[in-house]
Amino acid sequence: MKRLIFIFTLFFASNSVWAVVAPADGNTTNIYTEILIVLFLVALLLLIVSLVLLKTVRVMANEIKLPGIIPVAEPAKMLEYEEWLTTEKSEKSSKQSAWNKLLGLRPISEEKDMMLEHDFDGITELDNPTPVWFNAMFYASILFAVVYLLNYHVLEWSPLQNEEYAIEMKAAEASKGEFLAKAANLIDENTVKVDGDAAVLTAGKTVFMQNCVACHAPDGGGTIGPNLTDEYWIHGGTVNNIFKTIKYGIPEKGMIAWEKTLTVQQTSDVTNFILSLKGTKPANPKEPQGTKM
Ligand code: HEC
Repeated sequence: MKRLIFIFTLFFASNSVWAVVAPADGNTTNIYTEILIVLFLVALLLLIVSLVLLKTVRVMANEIKLPGIIPVAEPAKMLEYEEWLTTEKSEKSSKQSAWNKLLGLRPISEEKDMMLEHDFDGITELDNPTPVWFNAMFYASILFAVVYLLNYHVLEWSPLQNEEYAIEMKAAEASKGEFLAKAANLIDENTVKVDGDAAVLTAGKTVFMQNCVACHAPDGGGTIGPNLTDEYWIHGGTVNNIFKTIKYGIPEKGMIAWEKTLTVQQTSDVTNFILSLKGTKPANPKEPQGTKM
């Protein structure tokens, strides 16, 4: 018995530790907690069943326990024994009666009254009452079924599996859209802002030096590509125009679309870097192209 209790305690303890530790990982929380709840209920049921069984065995064993050898030869001692037996019995019966009721157990002395009429080759049958705990579970399950039916199929308060799935998918879709909107498309040619922050310009310069100098020269004076420091722009000189030119490029004129190579942030940074070049004096400026802005 002690060992059994120890094992169950260990099981519950480890479960609760797991329950505390598992939610640290955001995505798996739901599945783990659901599995945990099921495991917990199964363990609880096992515990209850084994306790009831154990107690039943104990009660039955006590019922027929005898205090060693009966001293038949000595009448005085025999009387003493009988006295002991009655007090023992009454003590025990008061202690056990509640439990016996719950388990539906009847003392062996009442067996004669419970015997059924029929007899199969000397084997008879007792008409034991159904235990209270069993009846309680039986009625509870009926009640549960009614509540379940009303909740899921009649009043439709809670969603069924398929609906639950659809709801979860919809929520996931919404949060996915939100995430994409935030992470990737926060800046585009319509929302890009002028930002003269030193950190932005440094980052933009790095992008420019790595990708653009071959055609626009390190100082932006232009070689194959046009001069980016003057007031003349072929495709417009606003922050939005420049962002758009860099993002989609002018492929037919030799200006690459940088959409796939640069992140949105990098494109925004290099746009601001180009804006900061305005009015600087490059070493070999290319002749103006486009219209004056
Ligand atoms: C392979 C050569 C090449 C590279 C590399 C290149 N460009 Fe260009 N770029 C051009 C050409 C050519 C044009 C002119 C397109 C036209 O005539 O319509 C141009 C045009 C531009 C314009 C528009 C200028 C205007 O007057 O409207 C901007 C802004 C620009 N490039 C920025 C960049 C940035 C930023 C990079 C690096 C991320 C870059 N370019 C890399 C060749 C290049």
